[in-house]
Amino acid sequence: MNNLSQLFEIQKALKDANYPDYKRVSKEIIEFVENEKDLKKVLDNIKKDKPWEYICGHAEFYTITFKVNQNVLIPRVETEKLVGLAIQEYKDKEFDTVVDIGTGSGCIIIALVKSLKLPTIYQEEIKDTEFYATDKSSNALKVARKNIKEHKLDEIIKARKMDIINKLKLEDKNVLLLANLPYIPKEEYKELDNSVKKYEPKGALEGGLSGNKYYKRLLSQIKEKGMKSFTLILETEESIIDETKDIFEEFNPKVIKDIYEKDRFLLMRG
Ligand SMILES: C[S@@+](CC[C@H](N)C(=O)[O-])C[C@H]1O[C@@H](n2cnc3c(N)ncnc32)[C@H](O)[C@@H]1O
Repeated sequence: MNNLSQLFEIQKALKDANYPDYKRVSKEIIEFVENEKDLKKVLDNIKKDKPWEYICGHAEFYTITFKVNQNVLIPRVETEKLVGLAIQEYKDKEFDTVVDIGTGSGCIIIALVKSLKLPTIYQEEIKDTEFYATDKSSNALKVARKNIKEHKLDEIIKARKMDIINKLKLEDKNVLLLANLPYIPKEEYKELDNSVKKYEPKGALEGGLSGNKYYKRLLSQIKEKGMKSFTLILETEESIIDETKDIFEEFNPKVIKDIYEKDRFLLMRG
């Protein structure tokens, strides 16, 4: 098969599987496969709705490459704004501790620390800050740790297995909390694309009946710890953001839109 007919075959498979960015992915597939056998395997997976990121083993987020496998969510482009918001907050306040809650691949905290380490005014400040990545899934943490190591941040970011923030001592600290916890309501989860339901971890997506199960638990843990000084930036979705806002009402959350103009983030200070 010549290159052109190979490209057509790949593009057809991607279009049939409803890939939105089939031109970019088809080029990546050409670079990835070494022979006809490889190509057949890739196309079989594409036809079975497997996301390209899980086939090739990496994903782009905030212009950084992250290792991914089916134990972690494929980082979403909407989430990149959370990193931008975190950089802005970090610049304005002195935080003792930054926690990425539900870290998955580690994309948020790694993108944040890499940005803070760029030759800017923050370089000195980050030495005085502790950075944590938490997740309840050991398998997700294995991926996060690989990414932390790959980006040479293993002396800066500590990856810890726990429920939300329950094992961290944060009560006397000034803390920046970043959270992209599972927030899809149970019924909405059933309507997601096959590629998501079949391959991405349900435990990274579904947030109970209302979608707010984990954010309610986050609030309980903040209160149980008696945290006195924190900024929280969380990601949620438009269909439930009013309820998420009500949960954190006492901290007067501000709603922030994502790149698609959807109400997506809450920022609050306590
Ligand atoms: C929506 S994914 C976000 C992953 C990554 N932060 C990102 O933005 O791509 C949610 C993550 O939260 C983790 N998670 C779910 N419940 C948790 C809990 N109770 N405590 C800590 N992490 C949890 C999941 O394992 C998953 O990795």
